[in-house]
Amino acid sequence: MNHKTTERLYLYPVWIRLWHMTNALLCLILIVTGLSIQFSNPGTMVKFNAAVYVHNVSGIILTISYCVFFIGNLFTPNGAYYVIPVKGFFLRLKNQFIYYTIGIFRKDEAPYPVNEESKFNPLQQVTYVVLMYGLVPFVILSGWGLLYPEVTVNSFVGYSGLDLTDMFHITAGFGISIIMCVHVYFCTIGKNPTSNFKSMINGYHESH
Ligand code: HEM
Repeated sequence: MNHKTTERLYLYPVWIRLWHMTNALLCLILIVTGLSIQFSNPGTMVKFNAAVYVHNVSGIILTISYCVFFIGNLFTPNGAYYVIPVKGFFLRLKNQFIYYTIGIFRKDEAPYPVNEESKFNPLQQVTYVVLMYGLVPFVILSGWGLLYPEVTVNSFVGYSGLDLTDMFHITAGFGISIIMCVHVYFCTIGKNPTSNFKSMINGYHESH
């Protein structure tokens, strides 16, 4: 008989799961259509006109979905997981980094196991904060700046405002794409490779 007990914590409320599913799907669509627009010559995955249309509509829906996330985190207990304690910040990052690069291969205990007070480890927390309160709002705002070029500044220190906005938009989009790949890979590090993905479907985090 296996006496190892599995601890199940309800950490992903319905609204987070619905937001996350919508957000992940939209980001995938935005990446495919965004790349199709950027590399439209001689022609890529999606035809240029269709890519522009789908990219714009997805960007608008992403804005709404981001507002849901922002307001949800402001008014529900989920927001507390995104508040980074200042004291011992670098030490916690270092401990988590050492765990990911050495400890995990020695089957050491995780330095910051998941519990109801902190569902993210320090590296995960910083990544999610940078992503959700930095890159995503940045890509959304620059996207709106490109959608309505008449509201974007004409020039900034001698450079075209539109070119700069475009460059920021593409750079932020690229950053989000890279983080997303790393994010999905790190999600496989759980009780077993699929358990974190199941958490985002049924709401329960599993650990032992
Ligand atoms: C196919 C793409 C994606 C998959 C399979 C995926 C998977 C997951 C899984 C399994 C979790 C729960 C485990 C954890 O907390 O680390 C999670 C959480 C999270 N993901 Fe993703 N993700 C994807 C895309 C994205 C994208 C594009 C973003 C943001 C731009 C994102 C942001 C987040 C955030 C902020 C959380 C924590 C939510 C919370 O509990 O407050 N994910 N993701």
